[in-house]
Amino acid sequence: MSKKDVVVLLGAGSIGQAIARRVGAGKHVVLADLKLENAQAAAKILEDAGFETSAVAADLSSRESILKLAEHARGFGEVKNLINAAGVSPSQAPVEAILKVDLYSTAVLLEEFGKIIGMGGSGIVISSQSGHRLGALPEEQNEKLATSPTEELLSLPFIKAITDTLKAYQYSKRCNVLRVMYEATRWGKRGATINSISPGIIITPLANDELHGPRGDGYRKMLSLCPAGRAGTPDEVGDLAEFLMSSRGRWISGSDFLIDGGTTASYWYGDLQYLKTTH
Ligand SMILES: NC(=O)c1ccc[n+]([C@@H]2O[C@H](COP(=O)([O-])OP(=O)(O)OC[C@H]3O[C@@H](n4cnc5c(N)ncnc54)[C@H](O)[C@@H]3O)[C@@H](O)[C@H]2O)c1
Repeated sequence: MSKKDVVVLLGAGSIGQAIARRVGAGKHVVLADLKLENAQAAAKILEDAGFETSAVAADLSSRESILKLAEHARGFGEVKNLINAAGVSPSQAPVEAILKVDLYSTAVLLEEFGKIIGMGGSGIVISSQSGHRLGALPEEQNEKLATSPTEELLSLPFIKAITDTLKAYQYSKRCNVLRVMYEATRWGKRGATINSISPGIIITPLANDELHGPRGDGYRKMLSLCPAGRAGTPDEVGDLAEFLMSSRGRWISGSDFLIDGGTTASYWYGDLQYLKTTH
């Protein structure tokens, strides 16, 4: 089999697919998901649109599974792009699962793929606007989240103290951004960039769970009051990711990009300030 550049997508949902479509042409696209059927469904759509793919089951919360995925990907060629769009939301999972999948696993993924990412490569982690609703953390907590050995992250006292799913999600997404900064220093030594994108509400199955979950009314009101007056689409996130992963984005690394129709601005200084007491 002739070797190609490889794109690895974790989480074959709508956001992940939108990014893969923009960076995957002419490469081999590995679609990995906890649910093999999700990866296979995405593979079918992409294959029918001219992409070369393989679909695998992978559990982001297991280092062993991440290592197997890396081995699978390297069988097709050099890994040039990593997209982490796998995750669970506050309405979908308990505190422990959110911290394990969204916080710990992203750190492990960046650590392991940072060992094999190819020269000129790039990675994107999908974080969330939710991480931008935490106030500033003490410098010491920032440093712990950014640089602690991965296996120690879930034992940090201020992480172990979290009992609320929304807090677990917010700390996880803040950790993603800080971890990306730390990893940018390592990925840079291999000539690769790594950035995060923090979307606001993007209409996907996961967002639809939120819109119809216990916090659904609140989300609908928030959307009507945000500066854009609507939710975002996976393609808008895909366009931003495409720029960051293209040759035009080579001077951008270790950065987080908020794409939320102005929702965070309004949360802190506009019509959405009322959310501060509830979110
Ligand atoms: N949709 C939004 O409004 C929104 C907003 C901000 C951030 N995000 C983030 O975007 C990412 C993708 O979400 P989406 O909206 O595309 O959802 P989605 O449900 O379409 O896709 C998420 C995918 O991740 C997979 N997944 C879950 N746990 C996994 C695990 N342990 N290992 C491997 N795969 C796993 C799911 O099976 C699913 O296919 C998440 O990290 C989410 O927090 C989404």
